[in-house]
Amino acid sequence: MSDNEQAATGSAKAWGGRFSDVPDARLEAFNASVGFDIRLVREDVRGSIAHADMLGAQGIIPEEDATTIVRGLWTILDEVDAGEFALTVSDEDVHTGVERRLREMIGATAGKLHTGRSRNDQVINDVRFWTRRRLVEIAGGLHAMCESLLDLAERYPSAIMPGYTHLQRAQPVLVAHHLQAYVAMFLRDIERVRQAWARTNVLALGSAALAGTTYPIDRARVAAELGFDQVSMNSLDAVSDRDFVIDALSACALVGMHVSRLSEEVILWTSGEFRFMELADRFSTGSSIMPQKKNADIAELGRGKSGRLYGNLMALLTITKGLPLAFNKDMQEDKEPLFDSVDTVLAMLDVFPPMMRTATFREDTMAAAAVADFTLATDAADLLAKRGVPFREAHHVIGELVGRCIAEGKTFADLTDAEWAEIHPVFADTRPPIDAWTSVSGRDSIGGTAPEQVRRTRGAQQSQLAGVREWVTDQLERENRLFTRS
Ligand code: ARG
Repeated sequence: MSDNEQAATGSAKAWGGRFSDVPDARLEAFNASVGFDIRLVREDVRGSIAHADMLGAQGIIPEEDATTIVRGLWTILDEVDAGEFALTVSDEDVHTGVERRLREMIGATAGKLHTGRSRNDQVINDVRFWTRRRLVEIAGGLHAMCESLLDLAERYPSAIMPGYTHLQRAQPVLVAHHLQAYVAMFLRDIERVRQAWARTNVLALGSAALAGTTYPIDRARVAAELGFDQVSMNSLDAVSDRDFVIDALSACALVGMHVSRLSEEVILWTSGEFRFMELADRFSTGSSIMPQKKNADIAELGRGKSGRLYGNLMALLTITKGLPLAFNKDMQEDKEPLFDSVDTVLAMLDVFPPMMRTATFREDTMAAAAVADFTLATDAADLLAKRGVPFREAHHVIGELVGRCIAEGKTFADLTDAEWAEIHPVFADTRPPIDAWTSVSGRDSIGGTAPEQVRRTRGAQQSQLAGVREWVTDQLERENRLFTRS
């Protein structure tokens, strides 16, 4: 036996009755989830209060025992809030840790709390309860993100920039139109978060270990007390379902993808190559060696953090693949990815809105870039097509014109009346736009970049956001109320 294989013993466990020996310390360390599931402690205790209260009301345990348990659990919540509650590795997990603390406080009566319940339904109920609130917070952060972008759009209602395809200048667009494209993405994220929230908001408690319970429990009462809108209808599914966690991780991954795309634009726009945009010094970083540097580190981190958000999603998809029903200890691995994704997304949504609010655009630079590289060529072809030239032929005529201008070092604005007339007879009496504003204003189809369309879209986005703000406020109040002692 090598040194590191020396026997070391752990401590007695709640499940130790059938064992003739205490667990090995290495099993104890490997098995324990206290290092991370401590984060579920408030939800765990609050869930136990609802469970104990129901056990008393149903006569499953004596009313006075239920009262003692409930009072002890509220005291534990006070300890948690005062930072006086701690777990050790011998507690194994937060659920047994809370019960251990209750026993220290009220004695053997604490042992009645776990009647008609299992850690299998307890843990997933805690995770649902925890995730439900965090999804609301994420929706709140997305709301702030949208508001900051819409305010920025409103500050620049007529600024024009080149729109890109393949990162090559394509057609002029309003800066506000570009910013509002991100608002559209983040609004979809809010929708996804709310859908994940609805699938999360289901009571799992009462499923017991896997098959339900022989005690006359009242699940509707527990659901009402914990603010769950539904009660799970299959006990096997309830204890083994992690779909809602995957929904949350997937929504977080998409938020990360959108933040990373916005980040990439911020990085490009603030670069010396573009010089479109500037961020306030207080949201920028410098270099330890190059005194002149001003870097957009927040945006680079925003771009980079999508990696861990995708990784967390892949981790849980992989963990759950092929698991037989019902609970398996593998599922303990759901928590760290969930916590990490929620923390990561909330941190991004905390810093990006105030950072984006400090953005200023160099309107002249952007306007000049918007008409460079023949970005008005489509408008010229469209003019021919509107006069009856088949669009394909018009495209070809203007394509040749662009080629000729490039060869001669000219822009459309340099061409004489005679040159225009020679390109196509239509141009003898009419001319395509050579300014970006005319081009942008012409794109007046629904959802296009014309100022009126952009203003209308912004109005629709703002009213959608008003509804989101109301929902977030209501839900946060509802969650907070669950923790005020009546
Ligand atoms: N710590 C476990 C988890 O995080 C709780 C459920 C344990 N259940 C069990 N039968 N061992 O999933």
